[in-house]
Amino acid sequence: MKMTRYREGEPGDFVFTAADQARARVLVARYPEGRQASAVLALLDLAQRQSGGWLPREAIEYVANFLEMAPIRVHEVASFYSMFNLKPVGRHLIQVCRTTPCWLRGAAELTDSCCEKLGVGLGETSEDGEFTLIEVECLGACANAPMVQIGDDYYEDLTPERLRQILDDLKAGKEVPGGSRIGRQSSMAEGGMTTLKDLPAPAPADPSGAPAGAPAGAPAAPGEGA
Ligand code: FES
Repeated sequence: MKMTRYREGEPGDFVFTAADQARARVLVARYPEGRQASAVLALLDLAQRQSGGWLPREAIEYVANFLEMAPIRVHEVASFYSMFNLKPVGRHLIQVCRTTPCWLRGAAELTDSCCEKLGVGLGETSEDGEFTLIEVECLGACANAPMVQIGDDYYEDLTPERLRQILDDLKAGKEVPGGSRIGRQSSMAEGGMTTLKDLPAPAPADPSGAPAGAPAGAPAAPGEGA
């Protein structure tokens, strides 16, 4: 669920830290003179991280000023992309992918399990401020469905039990590495590699020029063996 409203009680003036200002200048310098607005996504990301995971209006206006853009243009960008949040979120933002491959593999059960465990509905934050739960469209890890993104990490091949354990560990302050929960490497098949494995070694080239595997005495392929 995309959140599109500002909340009352936003922080006051926003300004990049010295480190973020330096980083922002590097990002803007990647684009040709007069095209600095192309850095708007990167600068909004910086601002969101500095603001604790969301973009108060002051941060959007600061980025607009930094890039010499109309604030409404920057707001349009911030409200379009699901990676930007326009109201405060918990320490951990859980984004459950609900698109078809994940849905077929149990995304709805993951969502229900999260709602029950955290005592929240979609778009809500748990009472302890630890977790915010939202649904998003495909995050590009369909081969290892179902999956969720928490913070910057992907957690794949999930079941409700595996996800609940991840939430318990995060709440306890543990480091929880992302990736497949069944040990897959990247997006290989669930039963292990099925390609480029155990293939017969290629036949040595026939000095007569006949195609590899052809019976003895077969004519050379056109243009070969001359
Ligand atoms: S459908 Fe869930 S990652 Fe693509």
